[in-house]
Amino acid sequence: MTNIPLTAREVRLLRYQSGPLKAEHFEVIETPVPSLGPSQVLVRNRWFRISISTRLMAEAGAVTVKGIPFPPLKPGDTLADGAIGEVVQVGPGTSLEVGNLVLHPLGWREYARVPAAQCKRIEGPNVDPAAWLGHGWTAYAALVGGIQVRSGDTVFVSSGAGAIGSMAGQIARLLGATRIIGSTSSAEKARWMQQELGYDAVVTRDGAPICEQLTEAAPDGIDVIVDMVGGDQLAAALEISRHGARCVLLGAVSAELNPSNATLRAPVELDTFQLILRGVTIRGFSADEHAPELFDAWISQAATWQRAGRIQLSRTMCKGLDAATLALEQACAGQLKGVVLAELESC
Ligand SMILES: NC(=O)c1ccc[n+]([C@@H]2O[C@H](COP(=O)([O-])OP(=O)(O)OC[C@H]3O[C@@H](n4cnc5c(N)ncnc54)[C@H](OP(=O)(O)O)[C@@H]3O)[C@@H](O)[C@H]2O)c1
Repeated sequence: MTNIPLTAREVRLLRYQSGPLKAEHFEVIETPVPSLGPSQVLVRNRWFRISISTRLMAEAGAVTVKGIPFPPLKPGDTLADGAIGEVVQVGPGTSLEVGNLVLHPLGWREYARVPAAQCKRIEGPNVDPAAWLGHGWTAYAALVGGIQVRSGDTVFVSSGAGAIGSMAGQIARLLGATRIIGSTSSAEKARWMQQELGYDAVVTRDGAPICEQLTEAAPDGIDVIVDMVGGDQLAAALEISRHGARCVLLGAVSAELNPSNATLRAPVELDTFQLILRGVTIRGFSADEHAPELFDAWISQAATWQRAGRIQLSRTMCKGLDAATLALEQACAGQLKGVVLAELESC
């Protein structure tokens, strides 16, 4: 029998911000644990994801963005993001049971009242939260269902140390690519990417012009581009793309994490004549929208690769809601690696 407290903690937006997101823009408050209606369950959260997209959604005038799995935030709103927790109470009309472990969209709180229809049951005692909440699945969906990686490909992954990027390089290699190049901001992250994630070369965004660095790293050109950044990194990679290159656009952090204001616009100048002559494919892709059916395939493939020691589900872990607001600040400032996950101490 689970003891359900009368109150629990959650994180709310304190005030709108523009410019860098700071922990002080949020407050952790104590609030009554919600009661349940029909087809709802109460979930005690164990882990939740911390996403840089919160920066975009916490700005005044933010709008719903298809592909960002939570709505714009107003001051006073509780943050949300993917979470895993244990069902501790069920309302009438649901087949879920107390004790079930579920994946759902209402993180950033100790207890969540969730429509049962938004819960995905997780089987098995040994759950790796990075497999379920991380963006390995986004990278996998993009590389399996969005574009094709072929044996011998040279691949460029922008934001290659990030939540998606840290997985995309490894998965591209497992799918047959032979040379993997990533981008990041610092020499320390570049070393980590080469030593831990197996990148063959890393270009840095605060170093020499990115086009020069990329040409040196990929003298024969690039076959596959997995782009999370946009801007000059995308332009440079397309500039040296090879005949038949494939480019999948997954995100635009140069706009989302723009130092002055987060924006939904990421314009870039491209030489389209050259892209036509080289038969380059460019595809915008959302894993949730374009390949949701690949999620279960990812979970099973990730377990197989993990058991064989062939993949690292890289993550930065923090403990508790207070630490989570600081981790969000650090993630947006480019100080963290892999997917950022919070673990709740009370659970
Ligand atoms: N299409 C989909 O299905 C899908 C799903 C989820 C997320 N997304 C989107 O994909 C993008 C990446 O998501 P993510 O969670 O993996 O984020 P992420 O790459 O972990 O983003 C954080 C990283 O962005 C880099 N960065 C920060 N400011 C930058 C700037 N001004 N210019 C270039 N890089 C900067 C930093 O890395 P370095 O310090 O290493 O440069 C930072 O650590 C986001 O735009 C997100 O909305 C798409």
